[in-house]
This record gives sequence, structure tokens and C-alpha cells, in this order.
Amino acid sequence: MAKDSRKRALFVFLLIPLIYAFILCFDAASLRSSGAVQLRERQRDTYVGQQQLSKNHGKDVDSSKLQRLLRGKSQEELLQNGIACIAKSKYDMCVTVSPVAVHITKSKTTNVYLTGNQKLPSDRNNVTILPYPQKGDGRAMINTSPVNLLHANAATSLPPCDVNHAVPAAIFSTGGYAGNFFHDISDILIPLFLTSSILRPNISLVLTDYQSWWVQKYQRVLSAISINDIISAPTDYPGGTVHCFPGAIVGLTYHGFMACNKTDVPGNLTCVDFLHFLHSSLFLKTFGPPATVTTQKEKPLMVLLSRRNYRILLNEEEVINLAKDVGFRVEVVTPKEATQLQFIAELVHSSSVLFGVHGAGLTNMIFLQPGAVLLQVVPWGLDWMSTCYSKPPLEMGLKYVGYKIDLAESTLIEKYPIDDPVMVDPESIHMKGYDVSRPIYMEGQNVRLNLTRFRGTLETAMQLAEF
Ligand SMILES: *[C@@H]1O[C@H](CO)[C@@H](O)[C@H](O)[C@H]1NC(C)=O
Ligand SMILES: *[C@@H]1O[C@H](CO)[C@@H](O)[C@H](O)[C@H]1NC(C)=O
Ligand SMILES: *[C@@H]1O[C@H](CO)[C@@H](O)[C@H](O)[C@H]1NC(C)=O
Ligand SMILES: *[C@@H]1O[C@H](CO)[C@@H](O)[C@H](O)[C@H]1NC(C)=O
Ligand SMILES: *[C@@H]1O[C@H](CO)[C@@H](O)[C@H](O)[C@H]1NC(C)=O
Repeated sequence: MAKDSRKRALFVFLLIPLIYAFILCFDAASLRSSGAVQLRERQRDTYVGQQQLSKNHGKDVDSSKLQRLLRGKSQEELLQNGIACIAKSKYDMCVTVSPVAVHITKSKTTNVYLTGNQKLPSDRNNVTILPYPQKGDGRAMINTSPVNLLHANAATSLPPCDVNHAVPAAIFSTGGYAGNFFHDISDILIPLFLTSSILRPNISLVLTDYQSWWVQKYQRVLSAISINDIISAPTDYPGGTVHCFPGAIVGLTYHGFMACNKTDVPGNLTCVDFLHFLHSSLFLKTFGPPATVTTQKEKPLMVLLSRRNYRILLNEEEVINLAKDVGFRVEVVTPKEATQLQFIAELVHSSSVLFGVHGAGLTNMIFLQPGAVLLQVVPWGLDWMSTCYSKPPLEMGLKYVGYKIDLAESTLIEKYPIDDPVMVDPESIHMKGYDVSRPIYMEGQNVRLNLTRFRGTLETAMQLAEF
């Protein structure tokens, strides 16, 4: 028996996080944008005719910058071989400080020809990278096209450059789970911010699995990373286009869910830096102390993220009135409004507290000002999953308040006997797998907050909010 319970503890503490980490935080599949946002394809790719591979040829990029992306042995390898690749559990990345010719076509595969004196390790003539940092996650990788790095020897018919670029390329995929807001931030924009920081804004972004609406949505952020046009497969040249660069980064560095590990990135960047960058790229106005002394201080704003499918806050109106009673102004955001980046960014940025039931919408915390509060309602049986949103705020210079509901506040109580394992032992349900637990806890309950209990939490949030 002792052994059994030890095994179980091990499962709960080690395996549940490992198994569920990538699913539970964000309902990846269900939230993936349906592609309904069909924006007009922008004409980005101007064909400039065949040029000779001349301008960049033999001209080395400032290797001292790129080499800072790597450490120890890989860094030595980069200096020795002109290229080095690292393989981490969640991502692969190659860095080259010598010229490359990147052949981009509408076909799934992108070829990067190594045209300098790069030497791939162990005399290989090619390396394939899936440049989306959820390596090992089959569902994400199905939507991620490979990028082949081919040694010049392997490139029997090296294509001539159509376009020469003066700055290195960062080549990455906007396939994977792109379109899900959590993943857009955690898998693409934070990694891109960390990877590009040494070159920003003198870098060219090459997007595989290009989706015009995605680029449109994050246009301001992307143009703060690169002053150059975004490069993707040309729509009107079936043969594709060859872009030449003095160096390249293939794949993005990744530090975990909404994480920035300052010891693993040049310049000791943290997620506080990411938020600062993001806010300035979106031109969000920051609050200062009031310019003139006014007697009447405005009440602090609480933004409530309203959910419509499941994990719905059933007594939303009552909760709003309670929040007003505690001293907040309250703005409710619908899921549809929440997809409009600039709108939600400006609203959340002007608030003191962002409030919602556990779900991907809480990712909007990235728009909060330093010192503001994320308030998460943790539904029954979702304790572990709620850590997806309780840890990042602290790394981002924000504050966190959690409200774990009582059984009496969950609609599960209408469906299951009070002594059912679903009620008394959620761990045992999680152990049966996500297919079993998801319909019960993630999709099978709504919440009705006990106003007496919740008032204290609102008061705590009020005290913590600094403005
Ligand atoms: C890549 O390398 C492998 C083994 O080194 C080889 O079998 C394969 O043909 C190469 N592919 C290309 C496109 O050169
Ligand atoms: C980017 O390039 C411009 C023009 O060459 C240069 O003036 C600027 O210092 C560069 N910025 C960085 C961060 O390297
Ligand atoms: C951060 O990166 C360093 C160096 O790679 C590593 O030793 C450390 O464990 C990482 N920290 C976290 C919290 O992942
Ligand atoms: C980064 O941190 C290291 C060790 O803490 C320190 O020596 C270095 O000066 C820091 N670099 C920057 C750019 O702040
Ligand atoms: C609400 O919470 C209070 C304080 O914890 C408790 O005394 C009360 O019984 C709860 N109300 C309901 C309906 O459960």
C-alpha cells in the first residue's frame, strides 16, 4: 500500500505535469483559430529578377553577435565550422555566420543552402529542422514544415540569388499551434523576442507556414523586431524565390511556457523585458503619477474576461456588482472582442486587475502594466493546470491572486453524487488520462461564485493593485 501511494505521488508530481503540460494550459486544438479571419493577402514579395550571388558572398556577418546565442562547445563549433546546431528537448536551432541561400517555395519544404565554408558536424551533408518550439508534440509538428540545411556539396544545382539581404535571417514557422493566443505568445513571440534580441531590428524574418492573417494581427510587434519586410513563399512564382543572407538562425530558442530564462539568453533578458518590449511595440500608454494633483482619484479598473462555452461564470452580473461595491470600475470583455489585439491590449493595459476563470484568455495578462494583478478563478479539479497562469505573472513583474472554488460553487455538484471520485478525488480522474478528465473538469463545469467568500479575494486584489 505504501508503495502504491508513493507511486501515485510520483505520478501526480512528475507525470501529470509532463503528460499534460502542453495540453492542459490552453485547450490547444479547440482554440486554434478557424482561419475565419481571411484578410487580404498582402503583396510582400517583389520579384527583383535574377541577381548574382555576389553582394553577400564572402562577406561575413558580425559573428560576435550571433555567437552569443550559443554557449560552450556549440559556440566553439560555430567559430570553427561557420555553423553550429543545438538539439534541446523542445526545439532544435542552427546558427550560421556564413552566407546562405534560402529557397522558399509554396511547397512545404524550405531549403537553406550553405554557401560559405560551413561544415556540418560529423561530415553530414544535411540537417533538417522543424522550426516551431514544440518538438515531440505530434499535433503541433503536423502543422510545421521542415527546413533543410543543405551543404553546398549536396546542392548540385545551387540556385542564384533573386534577392540579396544585408542582414541575417531568422527562419521560423507560424504553423504549429499558431492562431491560439497562448501559443502565439508562448511559442512564437517570446521565443522570437529572445532569439532576435542581439540583432533587433537589423534582422530579416523568414516565415514558413506563412498565414497572412497571423502576420497582420501581430504586425506592430513584428515590425518592432525587424525593420525589413517579412519574407515568405511568393504567391505568384511557382518556382519560388531565392533569398540570400550573410548569416542565419534557423529555429527559435525556447525556455518553457511563457518563460524567459535570463541565464540562457544574451543580455540577461527576462519576461519583464518582453512585456516592456511588447507594450512599446503596440504603443501602449503607460500610467505615470497624475500630472496635476486632483482631489478625486479615479477608481481602479477591473477587466473581466467573459467565457461563453464552458467554465462560464454563471453569476457574472452579481460578481460585477460585488466588484463595484469593493471599489472597482468594471469592464467586461467578450471572447470576440478579445481577439482584437489592439483593443484588448489597450483595455487591459489601462486596468489594475485582469480577472477570469481559468482559460487561454488569461494570456492577456501580458498587456498588464508592471505591478498590476492577475486574478484567476480555479475551477474544481483544475489546481495543477491553473499553475499555467499562476507562475508567469510573477516572472513578468505582475502580481497573482488565485481563488480556488469550493465544490458548492461548481456545477459538477448538479451532475455527480457528493462522494463520487470526480468530486472527492480529481487526481484519480486525471490518472485515467486527459480524454477522461477534459470533458469533466475542463468542459463539463461552470462556476457560481459564493459572494461572501469571494469578497475577501476581491479586497486582496484591490489592496495589491498599485494604481
Ligand atoms: C541527407 O543526409 C542523409 C544521410 O546523411 C542522406 O541519406 C540524404 O540523401 C541527404 N539528403 C539530401 C537532400 O541531401
Ligand atoms: C542597425 O543598422 C543600422 C544601419 O546600418 C545601424 O545604424 C544600427 O546601429 C544597427 N542597429 C543595431 C542594433 O545593430
Ligand atoms: C536556465 O538556464 C540555465 C542555463 O541553461 C539552466 O542551468 C537553468 O536550469 C535554467 N533555469 C530554469 C528555471 O529553467
Ligand atoms: C548578466 O548577468 C551576468 C551574471 O549575473 C553578469 O555578469 C552580466 O554583467 C550581466 N549582463 C548584462 C548585460 O546585464
Ligand atoms: C459562502 O461562503 C461562506 C463563507 O465561507 C459560507 O459561510 C457560506 O455557507 C457559503 N454559502 C453557500 C451558499 O455555500
